[in-house]
Amino acid sequence: MKILVIGSGGREHALVWKLKTSPQFPKIYCAPGNGGIAQDAELVQIKADDLKGLLDFALKEKIGLTIVGPEAPLAEGIVNKFMQKGLNIFGPTKELALLEASKAYSKETMQRLNIPTAAFEIFDTPDKAIDFTNRSLLFAAHYPLVVKADGLAAGKGVIICKDRRQAQLAIEHMMVRKAFGKSGEKIIIEECLAGEEASILVVSDGINVIPLASSQDHKRVFDGDKGPNTGGMGAYSPAPAVSEEMHKRIMNEIIYPLINGLAKENKFYKGVLYAGIMITKNGPKVLEFNVRFGDPETQAILPRLKTDLADLCLASIEDKIDQIKLKWEEKTSLCVVLASGGYPGEYKNGLEISGLEEALWEGSPDTYIFHAGTKLQSANGKSQIVTDGGRVLNVVSLGDNIRQAIDKVYKAAHKIKFAGLHYRKDIGHRALERYLEDTYMGAQAD
Ligand code: AMP
Ligand code: GLY
Repeated sequence: MKILVIGSGGREHALVWKLKTSPQFPKIYCAPGNGGIAQDAELVQIKADDLKGLLDFALKEKIGLTIVGPEAPLAEGIVNKFMQKGLNIFGPTKELALLEASKAYSKETMQRLNIPTAAFEIFDTPDKAIDFTNRSLLFAAHYPLVVKADGLAAGKGVIICKDRRQAQLAIEHMMVRKAFGKSGEKIIIEECLAGEEASILVVSDGINVIPLASSQDHKRVFDGDKGPNTGGMGAYSPAPAVSEEMHKRIMNEIIYPLINGLAKENKFYKGVLYAGIMITKNGPKVLEFNVRFGDPETQAILPRLKTDLADLCLASIEDKIDQIKLKWEEKTSLCVVLASGGYPGEYKNGLEISGLEEALWEGSPDTYIFHAGTKLQSANGKSQIVTDGGRVLNVVSLGDNIRQAIDKVYKAAHKIKFAGLHYRKDIGHRALERYLEDTYMGAQAD
Protein backbone atom coordinates (compact mmCIF):
# COMPACT_ATOMS: atom_id res chain seq x y z
CA MET A 1 0.00 0.00 0.00
CA LYS A 2 1.09 3.57 -0.67
CA ILE A 3 0.48 6.18 2.03
CA LEU A 4 0.68 9.96 1.66
CA VAL A 5 1.17 12.12 4.76
CA ILE A 6 0.49 15.83 4.24
CA GLY A 7 2.44 18.40 6.26
CA SER A 8 5.93 19.28 7.37
CA GLY A 9 6.06 19.42 11.16
CA GLY A 10 7.04 17.25 14.10
CA ARG A 11 3.55 15.76 14.11
CA GLU A 12 3.98 14.59 10.53
CA HIS A 13 7.42 13.14 11.29
CA ALA A 14 5.90 11.15 14.16
CA LEU A 15 3.09 9.94 11.87
CA VAL A 16 5.57 8.87 9.18
CA TRP A 17 7.82 7.19 11.74
CA LYS A 18 4.90 5.23 13.18
CA LEU A 19 3.55 4.25 9.73
CA LYS A 20 6.98 2.94 8.83
CA THR A 21 6.59 0.28 11.53
CA SER A 22 3.32 -0.96 9.97
CA PRO A 23 3.26 -4.71 9.27
CA GLN A 24 1.67 -3.76 5.93
CA PHE A 25 5.11 -2.43 4.81
CA PRO A 26 3.68 0.66 3.10
CA LYS A 27 5.59 2.93 0.78
CA ILE A 28 5.35 6.32 2.45
CA TYR A 29 5.32 9.73 0.78
CA CYS A 30 5.23 13.04 2.58
CA ALA A 31 4.28 16.39 1.05
CA PRO A 32 6.23 18.54 1.54
CA GLY A 33 8.01 17.04 4.60
CA ASN A 34 11.23 18.25 6.24
CA GLY A 35 14.88 17.31 6.75
CA GLY A 36 14.10 14.46 9.17
CA ILE A 37 11.12 13.07 7.28
CA ALA A 38 13.40 12.90 4.21
CA GLN A 39 15.19 10.03 5.98
CA ASP A 40 11.96 8.05 6.59
CA ALA A 41 9.76 8.77 3.55
CA GLU A 42 9.96 9.96 -0.02
CA LEU A 43 9.40 13.71 -0.06
CA VAL A 44 7.01 15.17 -2.61
CA GLN A 45 7.50 18.83 -3.43
CA ILE A 46 3.84 19.84 -3.13
CA LYS A 47 2.74 22.29 -0.45
CA ALA A 48 0.08 21.28 2.07
CA ASP A 49 -2.33 23.94 0.74
CA ASP A 50 -1.99 22.94 -2.92
CA LEU A 51 -5.10 20.77 -2.97
CA LYS A 52 -5.10 20.26 -6.73
CA GLY A 53 -1.43 19.25 -6.76
CA LEU A 54 -2.01 16.78 -3.92
CA LEU A 55 -5.08 15.28 -5.59
CA ASP A 56 -3.30 14.86 -8.93
CA PHE A 57 -0.36 13.20 -7.17
CA ALA A 58 -2.60 10.82 -5.19
CA LEU A 59 -4.50 9.81 -8.32
CA LYS A 60 -1.34 9.32 -10.36
CA GLU A 61 0.41 7.27 -7.66
CA LYS A 62 -2.77 5.38 -6.66
CA ILE A 63 -2.30 6.34 -3.02
CA GLY A 64 -4.20 3.89 -0.79
CA LEU A 65 -4.37 6.13 2.29
CA THR A 66 -3.82 9.87 2.77
CA ILE A 67 -3.38 11.33 6.26
CA VAL A 68 -3.68 15.09 6.65
CA GLY A 69 -1.52 16.72 9.34
CA PRO A 70 -2.47 20.42 9.47
CA GLU A 71 -5.92 21.99 9.69
CA ALA A 72 -5.77 24.29 6.66
CA PRO A 73 -6.24 21.64 3.92
CA LEU A 74 -9.09 20.07 5.95
CA ALA A 75 -10.76 23.48 6.27
CA GLU A 76 -10.35 23.93 2.49
CA GLY A 77 -12.18 20.66 1.84
CA ILE A 78 -9.38 18.27 0.87
CA VAL A 79 -11.39 15.32 2.20
CA ASN A 80 -14.39 16.17 -0.01
CA LYS A 81 -12.13 16.45 -3.07
CA PHE A 82 -10.35 13.13 -2.45
CA MET A 83 -13.62 11.33 -1.63
CA GLN A 84 -15.22 12.55 -4.86
CA LYS A 85 -12.43 10.74 -6.71
CA GLY A 86 -12.82 7.58 -4.62
CA LEU A 87 -9.54 8.03 -2.71
CA ASN A 88 -9.13 6.94 0.92
CA ILE A 89 -8.41 9.98 3.07
CA PHE A 90 -8.41 10.21 6.86
CA GLY A 91 -10.15 13.27 8.27
CA PRO A 92 -13.43 15.18 8.42
CA THR A 93 -15.21 16.86 5.52
CA LYS A 94 -15.06 20.61 5.00
CA GLU A 95 -18.32 21.16 6.88
CA LEU A 96 -17.14 19.35 10.01
CA ALA A 97 -13.65 20.87 9.80
CA LEU A 98 -15.54 24.03 10.81
CA LEU A 99 -15.38 22.69 14.36
CA GLU A 100 -11.81 24.02 14.28
CA ALA A 101 -11.95 26.55 11.43
CA SER A 102 -14.81 28.55 12.98
CA LYS A 103 -14.96 29.02 16.72
CA ALA A 104 -18.50 30.42 16.31
CA TYR A 105 -19.60 27.18 14.57
CA SER A 106 -17.86 25.14 17.26
CA LYS A 107 -19.45 27.07 20.16
CA GLU A 108 -22.92 26.96 18.56
CA THR A 109 -22.57 23.21 18.03
CA MET A 110 -21.59 22.74 21.68
CA GLN A 111 -24.50 24.89 22.83
CA ARG A 112 -26.95 22.96 20.66
CA LEU A 113 -25.67 19.58 21.88
CA ASN A 114 -25.38 20.63 25.53
CA ILE A 115 -21.63 20.12 25.72
CA PRO A 116 -19.97 21.93 28.63
CA THR A 117 -17.87 24.91 27.52
CA ALA A 118 -17.13 28.48 28.65
CA ALA A 119 -20.11 30.89 28.52
CA PHE A 120 -19.81 32.99 25.37
CA GLU A 121 -21.25 35.58 23.00
CA ILE A 122 -20.51 35.94 19.28
CA PHE A 123 -20.08 39.37 17.64
CA ASP A 124 -19.88 40.45 14.02
CA THR A 125 -19.23 44.16 14.55
CA PRO A 126 -16.69 45.89 16.80
CA ASP A 127 -19.37 48.26 18.14
CA LYS A 128 -21.52 45.46 19.51
CA ALA A 129 -18.48 43.73 21.02
CA ILE A 130 -17.24 46.91 22.70
CA ASP A 131 -20.74 47.67 23.93
CA PHE A 132 -20.80 44.20 25.51
CA THR A 133 -17.60 44.87 27.45
CA ASN A 134 -19.19 48.07 28.78
CA ARG A 135 -22.24 46.30 30.14
CA SER A 136 -22.33 44.25 33.30
CA LEU A 137 -24.36 41.47 31.80
CA LEU A 138 -23.78 37.75 32.02
CA PHE A 139 -20.11 37.11 32.54
CA ALA A 140 -19.03 40.46 31.02
CA ALA A 141 -18.38 42.05 34.39
CA HIS A 142 -16.01 39.29 35.38
CA TYR A 143 -12.47 39.76 34.18
CA PRO A 144 -10.31 38.17 32.89
CA LEU A 145 -12.32 37.63 29.72
CA VAL A 146 -11.16 35.79 26.64
CA VAL A 147 -11.41 37.39 23.19
CA LYS A 148 -11.06 34.96 20.27
CA ALA A 149 -10.95 35.42 16.52
CA ASP A 150 -13.54 33.19 14.84
CA GLY A 151 -11.29 31.76 12.13
CA LEU A 152 -7.90 30.08 11.96
CA ALA A 153 -5.10 32.27 13.29
CA ALA A 154 -2.15 29.87 13.69
CA GLY A 155 -2.74 29.62 17.45
CA LYS A 156 -2.47 33.39 17.94
CA GLY A 157 -6.15 34.32 17.81
CA VAL A 158 -6.83 33.99 21.56
CA ILE A 159 -6.25 36.92 23.90
CA ILE A 160 -6.85 36.68 27.63
CA CYS A 161 -7.82 40.18 28.82
CA LYS A 162 -7.29 41.26 32.40
CA ASP A 163 -9.62 44.25 32.23
CA ARG A 164 -12.04 46.16 30.05
CA ARG A 165 -9.28 48.22 28.42
CA GLN A 166 -7.40 45.11 27.30
CA ALA A 167 -10.62 43.58 26.02
CA GLN A 168 -11.38 46.65 23.95
CA LEU A 169 -7.82 46.71 22.57
CA ALA A 170 -8.15 43.03 21.64
CA ILE A 171 -11.44 43.71 19.84
CA GLU A 172 -9.85 46.58 17.90
CA HIS A 173 -6.80 44.46 17.10
CA MET A 174 -8.96 41.73 15.57
CA MET A 175 -11.95 43.58 14.11
CA VAL A 176 -10.70 47.07 13.24
CA ARG A 177 -7.01 46.59 12.49
CA LYS A 178 -7.82 43.10 11.15
CA ALA A 179 -4.66 41.52 12.59
CA PHE A 180 -5.91 38.08 11.51
CA GLY A 181 -7.57 39.19 8.26
CA LYS A 182 -10.91 37.52 7.56
CA SER A 183 -10.47 35.26 10.61
CA GLY A 184 -11.32 38.26 12.81
CA GLU A 185 -14.50 39.30 10.98
CA LYS A 186 -16.40 37.59 13.78
CA ILE A 187 -15.14 37.27 17.33
CA ILE A 188 -16.14 35.31 20.38
CA ILE A 189 -15.96 36.77 23.86
CA GLU A 190 -15.98 34.10 26.49
CA GLU A 191 -15.67 33.38 30.15
CA CYS A 192 -12.13 32.64 31.32
CA LEU A 193 -11.92 29.13 32.75
CA ALA A 194 -9.56 28.15 35.54
CA GLY A 195 -8.10 24.68 36.02
CA GLU A 196 -5.67 22.28 34.41
CA GLU A 197 -5.66 21.69 30.66
CA ALA A 198 -5.54 18.30 28.95
CA SER A 199 -5.75 17.08 25.37
CA ILE A 200 -8.08 14.22 24.58
CA LEU A 201 -7.72 12.83 21.08
CA VAL A 202 -10.18 10.28 19.76
CA VAL A 203 -10.65 8.59 16.39
CA SER A 204 -14.13 8.22 14.97
CA ASP A 205 -15.81 6.72 11.92
CA GLY A 206 -18.85 8.95 12.39
CA ILE A 207 -20.66 6.53 14.73
CA ASN A 208 -18.08 4.69 16.81
CA VAL A 209 -15.28 6.33 18.76
CA ILE A 210 -11.99 5.09 20.15
CA PRO A 211 -9.93 7.28 22.48
CA LEU A 212 -6.17 7.64 22.13
CA ALA A 213 -3.99 8.00 25.24
CA SER A 214 -4.42 11.29 27.13
CA SER A 215 -1.76 13.98 26.93
CA GLN A 216 -0.92 17.47 28.09
CA ASP A 217 0.65 20.28 26.08
CA HIS A 218 2.70 23.26 27.34
CA LYS A 219 1.59 26.29 25.33
CA ARG A 220 3.65 29.11 26.85
CA VAL A 221 7.16 29.71 25.63
CA PHE A 222 8.97 29.98 28.98
CA ASP A 223 9.35 27.85 32.11
CA GLY A 224 6.64 28.24 34.71
CA ASP A 225 4.06 28.78 31.93
CA LYS A 226 5.28 32.34 31.35
CA GLY A 227 5.56 34.37 28.15
CA PRO A 228 3.49 34.33 24.99
CA ASN A 229 1.56 31.34 23.63
CA THR A 230 3.27 29.10 21.07
CA GLY A 231 2.20 26.16 18.96
CA GLY A 232 3.29 24.00 21.93
CA MET A 233 6.68 23.66 23.64
CA GLY A 234 6.36 20.10 24.89
CA ALA A 235 3.92 17.40 25.86
CA TYR A 236 3.62 14.19 27.79
CA SER A 237 1.39 11.16 27.80
CA PRO A 238 -0.49 9.93 29.74
CA ALA A 239 -1.71 13.05 31.58
CA PRO A 240 -2.30 12.08 35.22
CA ALA A 241 -4.69 15.06 35.51
CA VAL A 242 -7.06 12.87 33.48
CA SER A 243 -7.90 10.19 36.05
CA GLU A 244 -9.95 7.21 34.94
CA GLU A 245 -13.05 8.88 36.34
CA MET A 246 -12.28 12.18 34.60
CA HIS A 247 -11.70 10.32 31.35
CA LYS A 248 -15.13 8.71 31.64
CA ARG A 249 -16.71 12.12 32.24
CA ILE A 250 -14.93 13.63 29.22
CA MET A 251 -16.14 10.77 27.01
CA ASN A 252 -19.71 10.81 28.38
CA GLU A 253 -20.20 14.56 28.70
CA ILE A 254 -18.21 15.77 25.68
CA ILE A 255 -17.02 13.25 23.10
CA TYR A 256 -20.07 10.94 22.78
CA PRO A 257 -22.61 13.80 22.88
CA LEU A 258 -20.69 15.51 20.08
CA ILE A 259 -20.19 12.49 17.78
CA ASN A 260 -23.67 11.06 18.45
CA GLY A 261 -25.35 14.48 18.30
CA LEU A 262 -23.74 15.22 14.95
CA ALA A 263 -24.66 11.76 13.64
CA LYS A 264 -28.31 12.42 14.54
CA GLU A 265 -28.06 15.52 12.34
CA ASN A 266 -26.66 13.34 9.55
CA LYS A 267 -23.17 14.72 10.01
CA PHE A 268 -20.68 11.91 10.37
CA TYR A 269 -17.41 13.05 11.91
CA LYS A 270 -14.54 10.95 10.59
CA GLY A 271 -10.88 11.22 11.47
CA VAL A 272 -9.20 12.34 14.64
CA LEU A 273 -10.97 14.76 16.93
CA TYR A 274 -8.87 16.67 19.42
CA ALA A 275 -10.69 18.14 22.39
CA GLY A 276 -8.75 20.79 24.30
CA ILE A 277 -10.22 20.42 27.79
CA MET A 278 -10.05 22.57 30.91
CA ILE A 279 -10.57 20.44 33.99
CA THR A 280 -12.41 22.95 36.18
CA LYS A 281 -13.75 22.49 39.67
CA ASN A 282 -17.16 22.07 38.03
CA GLY A 283 -15.95 19.31 35.74
CA PRO A 284 -14.42 19.15 32.27
CA LYS A 285 -15.19 21.96 29.82
CA VAL A 286 -14.17 22.34 26.19
CA LEU A 287 -11.70 25.10 25.32
CA GLU A 288 -11.57 24.17 21.65
CA PHE A 289 -11.98 21.36 19.19
CA ASN A 290 -9.30 20.62 16.62
CA VAL A 291 -10.02 18.35 13.68
CA ARG A 292 -6.50 16.88 13.38
CA PHE A 293 -3.72 15.37 15.43
CA GLY A 294 -2.19 17.74 18.01
CA ASP A 295 1.35 19.00 17.71
CA PRO A 296 3.34 18.19 19.92
CA GLU A 297 0.84 15.80 21.56
CA THR A 298 1.15 13.32 18.67
CA GLN A 299 4.92 13.12 19.13
CA ALA A 300 4.33 12.04 22.75
CA ILE A 301 1.37 9.73 22.06
CA LEU A 302 2.52 7.68 19.05
CA PRO A 303 5.70 6.19 20.58
CA ARG A 304 3.37 4.57 23.15
CA LEU A 305 0.97 3.14 20.57
CA LYS A 306 1.58 -0.54 19.84
CA THR A 307 -1.27 -0.91 17.31
CA ASP A 308 -0.82 -0.29 13.59
CA LEU A 309 -1.68 3.34 12.77
CA ALA A 310 -2.57 2.55 9.14
CA ASP A 311 -5.19 0.05 10.36
CA LEU A 312 -6.66 2.65 12.71
CA CYS A 313 -6.93 5.29 9.98
CA LEU A 314 -8.44 2.84 7.48
CA ALA A 315 -10.97 1.70 10.10
CA SER A 316 -12.14 5.31 10.45
CA ILE A 317 -12.60 5.60 6.68
CA GLU A 318 -14.28 2.18 6.36
CA ASP A 319 -16.68 2.57 9.35
CA LYS A 320 -14.93 -0.15 11.34
CA ILE A 321 -13.74 1.65 14.46
CA ASP A 322 -15.81 -0.80 16.55
CA GLN A 323 -13.44 -3.55 15.40
CA ILE A 324 -10.29 -1.76 16.60
CA LYS A 325 -8.57 -2.40 19.92
CA LEU A 326 -5.67 -0.15 20.78
CA LYS A 327 -2.68 -1.43 22.74
CA TRP A 328 -0.42 1.00 24.62
CA GLU A 329 3.06 0.81 26.06
CA GLU A 330 2.55 1.21 29.83
CA LYS A 331 5.21 3.90 29.98
CA THR A 332 5.32 7.65 30.25
CA SER A 333 6.37 9.54 27.19
CA LEU A 334 7.72 13.08 27.25
CA CYS A 335 8.38 15.39 24.32
CA VAL A 336 10.50 18.54 24.51
CA VAL A 337 10.39 21.03 21.65
CA LEU A 338 13.68 22.66 20.66
CA ALA A 339 12.95 26.08 19.18
CA SER A 340 14.81 28.76 17.19
CA GLY A 341 16.14 31.82 19.04
CA GLY A 342 13.35 34.43 19.01
CA TYR A 343 10.47 31.96 18.53
CA PRO A 344 7.47 32.57 18.81
CA GLY A 345 8.61 35.93 17.40
CA GLU A 346 11.09 36.37 14.58
CA TYR A 347 13.97 33.96 14.11
CA LYS A 348 16.70 33.02 11.62
CA ASN A 349 16.69 29.94 9.39
CA GLY A 350 19.56 27.98 7.86
CA LEU A 351 21.57 27.40 11.04
CA GLU A 352 23.55 24.17 11.22
CA ILE A 353 22.31 21.60 13.73
CA SER A 354 24.74 19.24 15.47
CA GLY A 355 24.54 16.49 18.05
CA LEU A 356 21.53 14.58 16.72
CA GLU A 357 23.24 11.19 16.82
CA GLU A 358 24.82 11.86 20.21
CA ALA A 359 21.36 12.74 21.54
CA LEU A 360 19.96 9.41 20.36
CA TRP A 361 22.88 7.57 21.95
CA GLU A 362 22.51 9.47 25.20
CA GLY A 363 18.79 8.70 25.43
CA SER A 364 19.03 5.12 24.20
CA PRO A 365 16.90 3.04 24.32
CA ASP A 366 13.47 4.56 23.68
CA THR A 367 14.47 8.08 22.66
CA TYR A 368 13.29 9.50 19.35
CA ILE A 369 13.94 12.72 17.48
CA PHE A 370 11.12 14.03 15.34
CA HIS A 371 12.04 16.91 13.07
CA ALA A 372 9.81 19.97 12.60
CA GLY A 373 11.47 23.08 11.12
CA THR A 374 14.51 21.43 9.55
CA LYS A 375 15.87 21.04 6.06
CA LEU A 376 18.41 18.70 4.51
CA GLN A 377 20.93 20.90 2.74
CA SER A 378 23.78 19.86 0.48
CA ALA A 379 26.98 21.84 0.51
CA ASN A 380 30.40 20.80 -0.85
CA GLY A 381 29.17 17.29 -1.57
CA LYS A 382 28.11 16.83 2.02
CA SER A 383 24.54 16.99 3.32
CA GLN A 384 23.68 18.56 6.62
CA ILE A 385 20.57 19.34 8.63
CA VAL A 386 19.85 23.04 9.13
CA THR A 387 17.07 24.93 10.91
CA ASP A 388 14.06 25.92 8.84
CA GLY A 389 11.30 27.05 11.18
CA GLY A 390 10.34 28.22 14.68
CA ARG A 391 9.83 24.85 16.29
CA VAL A 392 12.84 22.91 15.04
CA LEU A 393 13.06 19.49 16.72
CA ASN A 394 11.14 17.30 19.12
CA VAL A 395 13.06 15.04 21.46
CA VAL A 396 10.88 12.27 22.91
CA SER A 397 11.80 9.71 25.57
CA LEU A 398 9.86 6.92 27.20
CA GLY A 399 10.40 6.10 30.86
CA ASP A 400 8.87 3.82 33.48
CA ASN A 401 7.56 6.96 35.13
CA ILE A 402 7.57 10.71 34.54
CA ARG A 403 10.78 11.19 36.55
CA GLN A 404 12.68 8.75 34.31
CA ALA A 405 11.23 10.21 31.12
CA ILE A 406 12.21 13.74 32.15
CA ASP A 407 15.77 12.74 33.09
CA LYS A 408 16.28 10.85 29.85
CA VAL A 409 14.79 13.43 27.51
CA TYR A 410 16.81 16.31 28.90
CA LYS A 411 20.06 14.35 28.86
CA ALA A 412 19.42 13.70 25.17
CA ALA A 413 18.23 17.23 24.32
CA HIS A 414 21.32 18.68 25.95
CA LYS A 415 23.52 17.13 23.23
CA ILE A 416 21.79 19.03 20.42
CA LYS A 417 23.21 22.39 19.40
CA PHE A 418 22.39 25.22 17.03
CA ALA A 419 22.86 28.95 17.38
CA GLY A 420 20.10 30.53 19.46
CA LEU A 421 18.46 27.21 20.43
CA HIS A 422 16.05 27.40 23.36
CA TYR A 423 13.68 25.00 25.06
CA ARG A 424 11.65 24.74 28.23
CA LYS A 425 13.39 22.94 31.09
CA ASP A 426 10.20 22.14 32.99
CA ILE A 427 8.12 20.03 30.59
CA GLY A 428 6.09 17.60 32.68
CA HIS A 429 6.29 19.70 35.86
CA ARG A 430 2.65 19.13 36.81
CA ALA A 431 2.86 15.37 36.33
CA LEU A 432 6.18 15.33 38.21
CA GLU A 433 4.64 17.16 41.18
CA ARG A 434 1.83 14.60 41.28
CA TYR A 435 4.32 11.75 40.99
CA LEU A 436 6.51 13.08 43.80
CA GLU A 437 3.46 13.67 45.99
CA ASP A 438 2.25 10.11 45.40
CA THR A 439 5.72 8.67 46.03
CA TYR A 440 6.10 10.73 49.19
CA MET A 441 2.61 9.78 50.42
CA GLY A 442 3.39 6.14 49.59
CA ALA A 443 6.61 6.31 51.62
CA GLN A 444 4.76 7.94 54.54
CA ALA A 445 2.14 5.20 54.51
CA ASP A 446 4.81 2.44 54.56
P1 AMP B 1 -7.75 27.78 21.91
O1 AMP B 1 -7.08 28.02 20.58
O2 AMP B 1 -9.18 28.18 21.92
O3 AMP B 1 -7.50 26.43 22.50
O4 AMP B 1 -6.96 28.68 22.92
C1 AMP B 1 -5.56 28.57 23.10
C2 AMP B 1 -5.23 28.57 24.57
O5 AMP B 1 -5.80 29.74 25.19
C3 AMP B 1 -5.85 27.39 25.33
O6 AMP B 1 -5.04 26.25 25.26
C4 AMP B 1 -5.91 27.96 26.72
O7 AMP B 1 -4.65 27.91 27.35
C5 AMP B 1 -6.26 29.42 26.49
N1 AMP B 1 -7.74 29.59 26.53
C6 AMP B 1 -8.59 29.56 25.50
N2 AMP B 1 -9.86 29.75 25.91
C7 AMP B 1 -9.81 29.92 27.23
C8 AMP B 1 -10.80 30.14 28.25
N3 AMP B 1 -12.09 30.26 27.97
N4 AMP B 1 -10.38 30.23 29.51
C9 AMP B 1 -9.06 30.12 29.83
N5 AMP B 1 -8.09 29.92 28.94
C10 AMP B 1 -8.45 29.81 27.65
N1 GLY C 1 -0.83 21.44 20.69
C1 GLY C 1 -1.83 22.33 20.23
C2 GLY C 1 -2.37 22.05 18.91
O1 GLY C 1 -2.00 21.10 18.25
O2 GLY C 1 -3.25 22.80 18.50
